[in-house]
Amino acid sequence: MPANDSLIHVIGEPPLFFLQSPGSSYVMGVHPQGTLCHLHWGAPVAPDQGMASLLNIPRRAFSTVVRHENGEPVPLDILPTEYPTANTGDFGSPAIDAEHADGTRGLRLAYAGHRLFRGKPSLSGLPATYVESDDEAETLEVDLRDEPSGLIVTLSYTVFAGRNAIARSARITNTGPRPLTLRRALSAAIDFAARPFEMIHLPGSWARERWLERQPLHSGEQWVGSRRGASGHQHHPFFALVTPGTGEEHGEAYGFSLVYSGNHLGGVDVDQYHRSRALTGLHPEGFAWRLETGEAFQTPEAILVHSRSGLGGLSGTYHRLYRERLVRGLWRDRERPVLINNWEGTYFKFTEDKLVAIATAAAGLGCELFVLDDGWFGERNGPETSLGDWIVNLSKLPSGLDGLARRIGEQGLMFGLWFEPEMVSVRSRLHTEHPDWCLHLPGRPRTESRFQLVLDFSRAEVVDTVYRQMEAVLSSAPIRYLKWDMNRHLTEVASAVLPAERQGETAHRHLLGVYALLERILQRFPDLLIEGCSGGGGRYDPGMLFYTPQIWCSDNSDAIARLRIQHGTSLIYPPCTMGAHVSAVPNHQMHRSPSMRTRGHVALAGVFGFELDLTSLDEADHAEAIALTRLAKTTRHLLRHGDLHRLANPFTEDAAAWMLVLPDATEALVTHVTILASPNWFDGRLRLRGLDPAALYRSCHGPSGEWRGDFLHHVGLPVKLERDFESTVWHLRRAF
Ligand code: GLA
Repeated sequence: MPANDSLIHVIGEPPLFFLQSPGSSYVMGVHPQGTLCHLHWGAPVAPDQGMASLLNIPRRAFSTVVRHENGEPVPLDILPTEYPTANTGDFGSPAIDAEHADGTRGLRLAYAGHRLFRGKPSLSGLPATYVESDDEAETLEVDLRDEPSGLIVTLSYTVFAGRNAIARSARITNTGPRPLTLRRALSAAIDFAARPFEMIHLPGSWARERWLERQPLHSGEQWVGSRRGASGHQHHPFFALVTPGTGEEHGEAYGFSLVYSGNHLGGVDVDQYHRSRALTGLHPEGFAWRLETGEAFQTPEAILVHSRSGLGGLSGTYHRLYRERLVRGLWRDRERPVLINNWEGTYFKFTEDKLVAIATAAAGLGCELFVLDDGWFGERNGPETSLGDWIVNLSKLPSGLDGLARRIGEQGLMFGLWFEPEMVSVRSRLHTEHPDWCLHLPGRPRTESRFQLVLDFSRAEVVDTVYRQMEAVLSSAPIRYLKWDMNRHLTEVASAVLPAERQGETAHRHLLGVYALLERILQRFPDLLIEGCSGGGGRYDPGMLFYTPQIWCSDNSDAIARLRIQHGTSLIYPPCTMGAHVSAVPNHQMHRSPSMRTRGHVALAGVFGFELDLTSLDEADHAEAIALTRLAKTTRHLLRHGDLHRLANPFTEDAAAWMLVLPDATEALVTHVTILASPNWFDGRLRLRGLDPAALYRSCHGPSGEWRGDFLHHVGLPVKLERDFESTVWHLRRAF
């Protein structure tokens, strides 16, 4: 990359660092006293020494100071510190806290050097965004040193060419003579100047994942997080700070997305001067990590995105980065098969012939993959037993997995299988043989959830055993797809083999074991398509997307409930990662009965599939299901390459609407769903985005018509608002 195209500029001494993205700059400077300070993140500024003036921070009453060599007082509680420390004069929430061998805590980090290089290194054992050539990014590493202990924090910043995103993480190395224990090691901190931000986050629950909430910031601390050992349904490893009035197309937005699937903490600490310190990383509660001399700890990666074109701009950057440079492997660039999953069709109660009958019906619709869900192994006829005993149940499936896969293959469908690798049922052979292989506290009751316990994946022998079990199953039959489930959260987090001073490492080590198993399975079966799942969408996060290109969005398969779930999810995640299925009516979770067409239109917003007993469709639904499958196949390239525009917000309106449009604006798929009809309402108009204003578009599916792009942008398509749950899809192609 020629120097004048550089993404990162370093000027002056002490240095100023300018990280330049297409629409934003991120600037840091070293205070003469040594602290690395955050100076600006926002609209682009040219690399210029003038930024150093921001380091002249006036001392205020009651300010903590150290004296600089020349006697100048440096106000430590006012410095906009790039990686704040605890117990040494900065009273805001810290990014790092370390306990020394004598039990005392506190660090003062001073700039000790930096390196600049092309490309982006991988993070050992952790999921992360990547580049395919060194021209795609530049990385800056800044070393900060705590002199008395010899602890070195290396802050890493990758700037991607053509993307308004920065990947941040920290590597913490003990170069001192004595061990120490990290009590907190976050991935990123940003000190913003006083601004009236609002915080957007994505709380939820089982069957109600990622509902969007937005509140103005208040003085003090405001956090979202998980202590569940999984990213969780309840709080998402993401938040955004936005200026008031920010909408889909306008306003300034800052996103913080953590590439991690376990305990996380994110949020803001607003200080006495109304400045906001944003932080994201591993949840410090219950966390401790011992570093012997020479050992290092790598934090997960945080992806920071800045947008001056509202939430639409924010989502666009995350979508492209995550679908192009977080999702990996063969399936990143392949069309995803239309699948039929038997779960809501049969639950645990199936026979081999019943499954083949469903697969035969699915083949008739044009489906491409049959997924056998829970209940195929051990003695599992309900949730009470057999997790960990991954041996096919021949009394249910007399031809075995191989025979079943062959019968399904004869119908022209690929075969896929459900697994829950991280778990063990209390009633299982594995648990009887190895009662200490699960997370537990000695001498205390083991909390069960869904009759199961969590295997201790911080132990290599446990991961090895599960790998061997899975390897045997996956090579016993032509299995092309795996649904990787995780149906309970972690309690009694402790390992039978870690020493006392390392027990605080259990949750993170456990997750590293989960990632290691996923990686081994993918190395051994590189063609395998893995769909993540956790009681629906309870572990839908960027960490999992590194291994599983698609994730089941929610156990709530009701099309109307899905509108909000999919809208919230789409704030960060591209539609090609969202598993979305047509299920039976009345819906099993919501008891509502939207038409087959509406159920299909909503499922077309993600990776399309069915999850019901297809042998019982009536004639009209059967014909509709054929048409929907055809539409899913003819439009799925839009899912993979298209930009998403959210056109109506189901959290604030009685409708949802969205469109996917190819970047060259030649083709678009537009969907509108009325939630509740209004009495005596006049039909509305749906204004589109992302088209070529001068081009003519013709509808090749849905209500027919021809419209110019500018008409579609400024006047809009006519939409019907007369009936509850009514939906319309237009597949538009550029005519000329
Ligand atoms: C979880 C999943 C479901 C299904 C069941 C099987 O709840 O989210 O889709 O696989 O487990 O037990």
